[in-house]
Amino acid sequence: MGGAILSGLRAPGVDVESIRVTTRSATSAAKLREDDVQAWSLEEKPEANAWALEQAGIVVLGVKPYQILELLTEIAPHANADAVMVSVAAGITIESMESVWPGAVIRAMPNTPSRIGKGVTGMSTGSRVSATQTEMVESLFATIGEVLVVPQSQINALGAFSGSGPAYVYFFMEKFLEVALERGFSEQQAEVLVRGTFSGALTLLEKSGETPEALRTAVTSPGGSTRAALDVFDAAGLDEIIREATTAAIARAVEMAGE
Ligand SMILES: NC(=O)c1ccc[n+]([C@@H]2O[C@H](COP(=O)([O-])OP(=O)(O)OC[C@H]3O[C@@H](n4cnc5c(N)ncnc54)[C@H](OP(=O)(O)O)[C@@H]3O)[C@@H](O)[C@H]2O)c1
Repeated sequence: MGGAILSGLRAPGVDVESIRVTTRSATSAAKLREDDVQAWSLEEKPEANAWALEQAGIVVLGVKPYQILELLTEIAPHANADAVMVSVAAGITIESMESVWPGAVIRAMPNTPSRIGKGVTGMSTGSRVSATQTEMVESLFATIGEVLVVPQSQINALGAFSGSGPAYVYFFMEKFLEVALERGFSEQQAEVLVRGTFSGALTLLEKSGETPEALRTAVTSPGGSTRAALDVFDAAGLDEIIREATTAAIARAVEMAGE
């Protein structure tokens, strides 16, 4: 995820020389240096994190959730008082981070399409964050997609849509692929039918500026074949299934975070 954010930041117009990156292994840091990023690993330079924090206005932590609080405690003494710390660690609350980091804290939840600049990031601001810091961090995540600022009480619900959402889309596609094969299409044909249709439908949605409802209605003649298929989804209670699935995702996120 840190790599995705970094590629967004390397877009034209961003001053890459102002970015300092650290990793654990020398191999990861060497790869970054090959791409002209200023990077050091803890393996090569044990004080690398303190080096990265010198002058930093935004500190992005992309380590695994279990590492966050220990790492914050370790690096906090090296941070500038006006630096805003952004964590992308799932399930780690702002309150727990504020208890070990004296400055401003933002909790962000990007999703996997961030890797190609088409992400949706939800972010919640802590009690010490200024409006300018919020704007700066919003601009940072805007380099890898769209950004929604929500209260932390909504971050698990947001994750049930944007964080887990790509998996729902792929799951749906997998089911259509299975059935297309059963209908006698080759694997290659099924791939074109399903991937091409999902991709085309989404691009049409984006380019037309229409709502999903308007575009659905446009392909659904009363009494026609599409209507017959949609009636089956309705009869199976797809809306209730979606409600239950998101409720389950939220409940599990709350459970994992111990909130
Ligand atoms: N993957 C996603 O789509 C996604 C989505 C939303 C949120 N997240 C969150 O993103 C975080 C990272 O996940 P990930 O899958 O990107 O993990 P990852 O691939 O393991 O990346 C972690 C990075 O942190 C570096 N690192 C570890 N300890 C360090 C330390 N003490 N100081 C400096 N650098 C250190 C690692 O260096 P090395 O390369 O040398 O090991 C690695 O580059 C998690 O908290 C996760 O909850 C991920």
